[in-house]
Amino acid sequence: MSALFTPLRLRETTLRNRIAVSPMCQYSAREGLPTEWHLVHLGSRAVGGAGLVIAEASAVLPEGRISPDDTGIWCDAHAEAWAPMARFIAEQGAVPAIQLAHAGRKAATEAPWRGGRPVAEGGRSWPPVGPSPLAFAEGYSVPRELSTDDIRTVVGAFRDAARRAEQAGFEVVEIHMAHGYLLHQFLSPLSNRRRDEYGGSIENRMRLPLDVAHAVREAFPVERPVLARISATDWVEGGWDLEQSVTFARELRKAGVDLVDCSSGGTVPDAKVPLAPGYQVPFAAAIRERAGVATGAVGMITEPAQAEAIVAGGQADLVLLAREMLRDPYWPLHAARVLGADVRWPDPYLRARS
Ligand SMILES: Cc1cc2nc3c(=O)[nH]c(=O)nc-3n(C[C@H](O)[C@H](O)[C@H](O)COP(=O)(O)O)c2cc1C
Repeated sequence: MSALFTPLRLRETTLRNRIAVSPMCQYSAREGLPTEWHLVHLGSRAVGGAGLVIAEASAVLPEGRISPDDTGIWCDAHAEAWAPMARFIAEQGAVPAIQLAHAGRKAATEAPWRGGRPVAEGGRSWPPVGPSPLAFAEGYSVPRELSTDDIRTVVGAFRDAARRAEQAGFEVVEIHMAHGYLLHQFLSPLSNRRRDEYGGSIENRMRLPLDVAHAVREAFPVERPVLARISATDWVEGGWDLEQSVTFARELRKAGVDLVDCSSGGTVPDAKVPLAPGYQVPFAAAIRERAGVATGAVGMITEPAQAEAIVAGGQADLVLLAREMLRDPYWPLHAARVLGADVRWPDPYLRARS
């Protein structure tokens, strides 16, 4: 029997299998509102048989958008626009989720196909914020250092976003604490040079991300899961690393986070990342074992046998696929055939099954 196609229960939510569509920015929103593109993009991957479909990094505050074309969840109109998408995903038997995000000093950049660089100053740009006045890279603005009051506002924005996510019908939220965005910027000593209670020791650097985890957990219904995506390492000497991630994951678990989604990198542009199939899986395995929390593995997972081995071998509870899902929205249905799992196809597609 396939481990990949075994249901996963988190709180009162059951995923039909261990396959998640990793959150992927589509740079296709208008004023933060998701569009028909998002319905088709997310909807077709739910039709394709994934257990969990996670909508892209959606900003909890307008200045937290990675690009001007990002989706948001900072106002009720966003929740209303997301509602039909969450409903459609659920109708296909997948669990609808949304990633709650704030880009911090990496905000206000263009879509990758427009170059991915900071938006030229003017109409579409805005000044970024961060833990310390350190720019991400050359050409990026120096962020305004968040005051203690601003930090409270950020925590409140994540709390309100979690409430709106529930109103929209999302059954799971994922807090984006990875890839060098705001919460990761607080965790990493490379981007956080604060001397107050939010900087210095690991306890202080974890303070804002943990406050956010507690706030989201309080705001989101107790029967529904909260996930956190972290970067397990900065891949830079003297930066955030696996040891700190294990400590952090233990605290996330205590805060009521149900699964830690283990990615890496993103804090600085020049990190040397040893890209290879499944290169981040060892982080998911180590954190699962040492922090006693369910984990998700992501990054260059493309083959059914590879995904099966990760779950069957106890390295992770969930696999998340990003680019492979863009290549093949029906990857889970195809993987089921390869692994000999008997899964239900959508009724209108049944005649194509055999
Ligand atoms: C188009 C695109 C958009 C992405 N947007 C996000 C995002 O919104 N949030 C996030 O945490 N990761 C994002 N990522 C990273 C993916 O979720 C994933 O972690 C990464 O691509 C590695 O997985 P893969 O090898 O299966 O593509 C994005 C990746 C791609 C290709």
